[in-house]
Amino acid sequence: MTTDSMPHGKSVEVHGIFQKIADYYDRMNFIMTLGRHRRWCREVAERAAPAAGGDLLDLATGTGVIALEAARIHPTVTVTGADFSERMLAHARTKPGADVIRWRQADAAHLPFGDESFDAITEGYLLRNVEDLEAVLCEQHRVLRPGGRLVILETCPPSGPVKPVVEWGMRTIVPLLGHLVSGDRSSYTYLESSTRDFESPQQVADLLRRTGFRDIGWRKKFFGTNVILWAAKAR
Ligand SMILES: C[S@@+](CC[C@H](N)C(=O)[O-])C[C@H]1O[C@@H](n2cnc3c(N)ncnc32)[C@H](O)[C@@H]1O
Repeated sequence: MTTDSMPHGKSVEVHGIFQKIADYYDRMNFIMTLGRHRRWCREVAERAAPAAGGDLLDLATGTGVIALEAARIHPTVTVTGADFSERMLAHARTKPGADVIRWRQADAAHLPFGDESFDAITEGYLLRNVEDLEAVLCEQHRVLRPGGRLVILETCPPSGPVKPVVEWGMRTIVPLLGHLVSGDRSSYTYLESSTRDFESPQQVADLLRRTGFRDIGWRKKFFGTNVILWAAKAR
C-alpha cells in the first residue's frame, strides 16, 4: 500500500483488530456460525457468476475463504483476493489452492486497480468495518465492468421477535467465546457493537441504488443475523 492509502481513522482500529485475531479467525467463525460460514461463502461465489475467462475480485478476503471457493467453482476465472491486513493474507496464502489466486494488500477505500478491471466483486464482512460506506461502494462500482455483479456477505442488525435473544447472545456469548478460544474478549465486543450499529439490508440496498447499482436483492441467513446481498452495475 502507498502512504496515501495506509489505514487512517476508524480503519486503524479495524486493521489492528484483524492483525490481532488472524491466528484464530477461522476457528472463531466456524464456532460462531455453527459451521455455516463456509456454505455462505460458497453461495456468494456462485452468485457472483463471472463469465468463463473473466476476472473476480474478492475484497476484504481475510483468510481467503470466498476467494478459494470462487477459484474452485469458476476454474477459468482469474481470482484476486485483496485485504489490508497482512496477517490475514498470510493465512490465506498457506491454504490448499491458494497458489492460483493473486493476493494483494489493499485498502477498500483506495483500490489499486484501474476502472472496469473486474467482471465480479465478492466481499465478506467488509462494509460494517469501513468509515465511509458510500465511498467504498463507489470504488467497487468504479473497478467493476458494466454488467458486472457485486455479491456481499454481511452481518445484520437484529430485528423482529428474535431481536432480544440475538442481542443478548451477541452481547454475552460472542465475547465469551472470543475469550475462551483466544483469550481476547475485546475484539469480539467490537463485533457485537459494529453489527448492532450497522445498516439494515434495506438501507444497504438504498445506498447501492444511489451508487449506481441495479437488480438488487438479498436473503437473510441464520435467524436474520447474516445476509447475502447482490447487485449489478448497469450495462
Ligand atoms: C471479518 S473479516 C472477513 C474475511 C472474509 N471475507 C470472510 O468472510 O471470512 C473482515 C476483513 O476485512 C478486512 N478489512 C476491513 N476493512 C478493510 C479495508 N478498509 N480495506 C481492506 N480490507 C479491510 C479485514 O482486514 C478483515 O480481513
